[in-house]
Amino acid sequence: DINEKVATKKIILAAPRGFCAGVDRAVRIVEVALEKYGAPVYVRHEIVHNKTVVDDLANKGAVFVQELDEVPTGAPVVFSAHGVAKAVVAEAKEHNMIAVDATCPLVTKVHIEAQRHAAQKRHILLIGHAGHPEVEGTMGQVAADEITLIETVEDAQKVMPPDDAALAFATQTTLSVDDTAAIISVLQFRFPDITGPRGEDICYATTNRQNAVKDMAKGLDLMLVIGAENSSNSQRLVEVALRSGAKQARLVADKHAVDWDMVKKATHIGISAGASAPEILVSDLLEAIKSRYDIDVVEHGHVKENMTFKLPSILQN
Ligand code: F3S
Repeated sequence: DINEKVATKKIILAAPRGFCAGVDRAVRIVEVALEKYGAPVYVRHEIVHNKTVVDDLANKGAVFVQELDEVPTGAPVVFSAHGVAKAVVAEAKEHNMIAVDATCPLVTKVHIEAQRHAAQKRHILLIGHAGHPEVEGTMGQVAADEITLIETVEDAQKVMPPDDAALAFATQTTLSVDDTAAIISVLQFRFPDITGPRGEDICYATTNRQNAVKDMAKGLDLMLVIGAENSSNSQRLVEVALRSGAKQARLVADKHAVDWDMVKKATHIGISAGASAPEILVSDLLEAIKSRYDIDVVEHGHVKENMTFKLPSILQN
């Protein structure tokens, strides 16, 4: 019957999307550590914020723990891509653990900046989200009284740094580019001598994924971002989509989390994935849509990424 014709959904796939070089490296680190040391290899915190990735590595013999007191003395332990405080590194050493550091090199860069500021007696204003493991790791590079967390523009307006202290700022790598710029301009207005990186410390992958979504959002009835609730960069992609004109946007862990009623009402549907979400979740989602509707898929975005990071030296031989 001609009236039963299946609706066509126009799918716009953001490019780039999904895995960044730091996540790719962190996953490989756990795999190579399993080959080198045999199971179990302990991993402190989710290696990256994605259940599919974590479950897959757990099946291969990785044991995920929250804290090092759950790791036996002398065992291999991987620190997650988000980085760890100095105290965690010291604790691993004290218990003769084989520490394998999967901290993204772009996070390590921020750690080094923080240490340099502290060495030069600058008080650090760290822009980031309270409770995120990356923020805990970066704050833990210096003494507690050398760093203050700034989460919002209001925090930037109110912060009272120690009297006469020279100031510096640093940021989490996975923030909203626009929100961070607003916070930095408040800090620079209040403290004209504040030192900081050129721009901020937001990484290339976060910036590229946000720009791609920003560029395609207008005219979308629905934007679906594949990513975990606790994934900062994925949450930011949902916000960017809404602010840039998508009528609706949702964070979905995978195809099972999709609200099919929403899809039904949408014609133009954008799809992206956070830096910790594997591409298989995108292809599974496309298949799921295709099983219900005709689909017409185009990719949007032209930025090519060719960043790769070497494995840590402990795994290189
Ligand atoms: Fe690194 Fe950025 Fe990915 S800091 S882990 S490249 S999101």
